Amino acid sequence: MAHAVVILAAGLGTRMKSRLPKVLHPLLGKPLVGYCIDTAFASGAEKVVVVIGHGAEQVRQVFEGYPNLSFVVQEQQLGTAHALAQAEPVLQGFQGPIVVTQGDTPLTQVETLTGLVHTMQAEGAGMAMLTMHLDDPTGYGRILRDEQGQIIGNVEQKDATPEQRAIQEINPGVYCFDASLWEKLKLVDNRNAAGEYYLPDLIRIYREAGQKIASIESRDTGELLGVNSRAQLAQVEQVLLQRLRTHWMALGVRMIQPETIYIEPTVELAPDVTLWPGVILRGKTRLGEGVEVGAYAALSDTVVEPGGKIKSHTVCEEAYVSSGADAGPFARLRPKAFLDEGAHVGNFVELKNARLGKRAKAGHLAYLGDAEVGEESNIGAGVITANYDGQHKHKTTIGKRVFVGSNSVLIAPVTLADHSFIAGGSSINQDVPEGALAIARGRQRNIEDYAKRKRSQ
Ligand code: UD1
Ligand code: CA
Repeated sequence: MAHAVVILAAGLGTRMKSRLPKVLHPLLGKPLVGYCIDTAFASGAEKVVVVIGHGAEQVRQVFEGYPNLSFVVQEQQLGTAHALAQAEPVLQGFQGPIVVTQGDTPLTQVETLTGLVHTMQAEGAGMAMLTMHLDDPTGYGRILRDEQGQIIGNVEQKDATPEQRAIQEINPGVYCFDASLWEKLKLVDNRNAAGEYYLPDLIRIYREAGQKIASIESRDTGELLGVNSRAQLAQVEQVLLQRLRTHWMALGVRMIQPETIYIEPTVELAPDVTLWPGVILRGKTRLGEGVEVGAYAALSDTVVEPGGKIKSHTVCEEAYVSSGADAGPFARLRPKAFLDEGAHVGNFVELKNARLGKRAKAGHLAYLGDAEVGEESNIGAGVITANYDGQHKHKTTIGKRVFVGSNSVLIAPVTLADHSFIAGGSSINQDVPEGALAIARGRQRNIEDYAKRKRSQ
């Protein structure tokens, strides 16, 4: 029978010093508690319940629309057992195992959750818990075992005797319980140093009911990393980044100074991608085989097809770069920028909702907004589409093999037909027919001997 997962996440998170609820702080672009939720579903959970406190409405909104996910509010933070008890109304009558994790430890692994469920069932135990050996166990609950090695209890740091404090086996706070959990939770009291309802007291209560406590040990101390402060968030981010870099390098990605490269888990990379130092890859960015991204380029939700090239210091957002196309250095591709095969965008060129056809070029200093540029057209330096009249956006349509001379303003809506030419420095506000030359600027006048006359004044 499938299991349920309860994620405890009602802690206040005061050490983050933030208006944002702790569990919503982004970790590689995803809210902290999102990791626990995804892990829970990945473990095969039929239902997932998150216990939240501070900022409940905000948290609910972020995860709206997830099926089989519910949120319950713990109004007062009276302890971990009290937090878990808040999930009872949602899981009433649920007969499968109930796994419990902590909302601020995002690196808990799927295998840990499934391992706890299997171990509990295989050993016919009433509950199973994760344990870990630490050189420095300070701050954690210590595991107490009898001579046979059976778990008989957990003692919190605050309540521990000096001998107990020397125990190096600790409680990482991940458990699995049978369906009698809710009855047993009612037996937990708050007679301890913190005056809180301690969840690990369930160990004693299950034992008193004659049930066995199973355990599995984790050797991955990453699973323990909790986020209580900005520094810990950065530390966890470092661990995750390291995993992602190692993962992609194993699959054939070349990284120069990998420790400087930022990649979110949603990014996809193909073999022979090259990433230079300081590259930032976010969201649904996807890079095809052999793509090269230059130093300090930042790409969000951008697709680069095989052999495309993004040169250094280029910023791309929801852009699409076809095979053999390139952008940068110092280019900016804004949402719906589209470079067809072999198109080229050079330095200080900005594209927004603009398409460059096959082998079309905009080499330097241009703005193309709401524009369509046909294949093999050339956009000179300083060309601007004036696409906005203060109220509405208008479209510029440029045909095939059009030559737009430098420093021209194309005042939209306007169409330049195939093979037309625009003289440099023109202000174009009328359509240009196929093959025509348009000149729209003051005619040059040379005043002879001007310098001589000026001198004799
Ligand atoms: C808990 C365990 C400790 C274990 C440690 C591992 C208890 C009593 N102790 O201690 O044995 O070594 O985790 O990290 O359980 N929470 C609520 N409501 C509350 C209190 C806590 O939702 O009223 C949530 C927190 O948001 C957090 C989790 O429960 O995600 C653990 O709470 P925390 O206060 O961090 O427990 P620890 O003192 O670290
Ligand atoms: Ca904690």
